[in-house]
Amino acid sequence: MSFPYPAGIERVLFTEEQIHDRIQEVAAAISEKYRGRDLKLIAVLKGSIFFLTALAREIEIPIQMDFLAISSFSSGANSPGLVRIAKDLDESIEGQDVLLVEDIVDTGFTARYLLQNLAGRGPNSLSICTLLDRTSRRIVQVPVEFRCFEIPDRFVIGFGLDHKQLYRNLPVIAVMKPDAE
Ligand code: PRP
Repeated sequence: MSFPYPAGIERVLFTEEQIHDRIQEVAAAISEKYRGRDLKLIAVLKGSIFFLTALAREIEIPIQMDFLAISSFSSGANSPGLVRIAKDLDESIEGQDVLLVEDIVDTGFTARYLLQNLAGRGPNSLSICTLLDRTSRRIVQVPVEFRCFEIPDRFVIGFGLDHKQLYRNLPVIAVMKPDAE
């Protein structure tokens, strides 16, 4: 692979082949569950677009897609995990089967907020599909129906995940050295 690894990388966690193989498996499960239904994938910008396109290519039923962006902020230790929508969906999800596509579920605040928000718009069903799940950092519980990989409590980059907005296009998922985070 010709992509120059950043000096701050400690090790590759998942190779391109491992990512591709696992996405195929998850896409097959999604195709089976939603066959004959009106599926819409909703990607949360920016990190999840790489996963969304890789996943969508492997899903064997017709799908729709839409995008939203969120801002996360904290006003202090007593009120962590405040989330608001910075860019909303373009279209209604009423009556549709919606799959929220994330690159990572971490504390769970973002996913919980989005599930509550989207549930109010009358979808037929609403589930989460995430590339990475870091359950060791969970603060609020959210139902993750489809996950590609559980990961350790380390800072990871690549395949959509950034470090200071860089390295989203790294084709592998890698762990950063603690002193480079
Ligand atoms: C990441 C990810 C989720 C959120 C998960 O987004 O895409 O939206 O963090 O974290 P949580 O479970 O602790 O709420 P990020 O804020 O890094 O934005 P980005 O996708 O633009 O990189």
